[in-house]
Amino acid sequence: MAKKAWGGRFKGQTDPRVETFTESISFDARLAEVDIRGSKAHSSMLAKIGLLTKEERDQIHSTLDEIKSQIDAGKFEHVTSLEDIHMHIETALVEKLGDVGRKLHTARSRNDQVSTDLRLYVRDAIKEIDALLIDVQKAFVTRCEIDKETVLPAYTHLQRAQPVMAAHYWLAYCEKYQRDRERLADCYKRVDVSPLGCAALAGTSLPIDRDFSAKLLGFGGVASNSLDVSSDRDYLLEFCFSLSLISAHLSTWAEEWIIWFTTEFGFLKLPEAYTTGSSIMPQKRNPDVLELIRGKTARVMTSVTQLQILIKSLPMAYNRDLQEDKIAMFDAFDTVRACLELVPDMVVGAELRTENINARLEEGFLDATALMEYLIKQGVPMRTAHHTVGQMVAECEDRGCRLADLSLEDFQKACDKIDEKVFDVLGVQNAVAALQSYGSGGRERVAEQVAVWQERLGL
Ligand code: ARG
Repeated sequence: MAKKAWGGRFKGQTDPRVETFTESISFDARLAEVDIRGSKAHSSMLAKIGLLTKEERDQIHSTLDEIKSQIDAGKFEHVTSLEDIHMHIETALVEKLGDVGRKLHTARSRNDQVSTDLRLYVRDAIKEIDALLIDVQKAFVTRCEIDKETVLPAYTHLQRAQPVMAAHYWLAYCEKYQRDRERLADCYKRVDVSPLGCAALAGTSLPIDRDFSAKLLGFGGVASNSLDVSSDRDYLLEFCFSLSLISAHLSTWAEEWIIWFTTEFGFLKLPEAYTTGSSIMPQKRNPDVLELIRGKTARVMTSVTQLQILIKSLPMAYNRDLQEDKIAMFDAFDTVRACLELVPDMVVGAELRTENINARLEEGFLDATALMEYLIKQGVPMRTAHHTVGQMVAECEDRGCRLADLSLEDFQKACDKIDEKVFDVLGVQNAVAALQSYGSGGRERVAEQVAVWQERLGL
């Protein structure tokens, strides 16, 4: 059994079941790289203020590098009694360096150490997720070119509403992911604050230079209250919340495409590589990847609830409960990353089945609002125009025809302000062409937005 770093005041042994119960090495081993980065900065700071010699610092650095190579090569043994990655690395250092290794933890506690590690980890994670979001946005903008001429029905309540350019759909997702990116960038500002040197909860009497270690680690600032640092996991919650909104956006997209992929809709062909078959029904091609993207949202969203409940009643400062924070965050991060990695190829590889879309595009009165707006332009008050068009739609439903099938006589019977120009606004193509307000789904406005996105993403 390895000797415990905190064993001085203990006479007996820890119950092995307690060691198994309290360990975190099984899930925090992945902090090794950031832990070593943090320890190098910390030891450099100790050397700067004279608590380590330059030689000792160099010895610590090269031994940490050795340990890192051992870890990378899969030759670093985990021992349950050593609890976590921090104790594992420090113990290995002491084994190799003796007293010099025993100096590393000067003016540091695992409490500021673990928070430093987590912040370094989350900083990298945010950069990784952001890069993946850019790839997803690029894929959607690429689709805008592919589907340049395609018009789609847009829905509210999953009932046909008004027509929009297909690219309007793709850019809607770009907007959502842009807000996700902005949220991550904002979260980054609060992650990017150095806890190192706050020690256990009260700081230290040793003459440390916290700015120096923070700078070495590339932190934008230094935390001002050691009690706060020791207890704070807000940054993890914010990160997981950002991830959970990303997963919500992924999930609504997946849901929409699952619906579009049905025989009933028939709007979409998914690339074969992203669908699976049935063990009994030979004809089946199922959108399992999309379904799992939707399904995995559950665990990402749950991470936020887990962390909220975890922190809600903790007295200051550090409590061991906080060790559980990593399980929730790592899982949310891994899940969102795995989803995002699959999305771009699926987005670019799918095909809109324009023959099916166009065959039914004139169903569902997608041009009714365009007709109402024509009446408004003819001087009819909006509410009257709405009512009149509603009656015409009911009439068409009775006759089993479209608005464009009505005669000028029919129109003029409904409203004497209608002239022959009414036919210029009827039909889906006319209705989509008429949309012109900023941000609308009309042809010209969408083309402008596509250009904006191409420029923004350097396409
Ligand atoms: N493994 C612990 C965690 O992740 C490290 C901090 C331990 N600190 C303590 N005071 N026991 O939270």
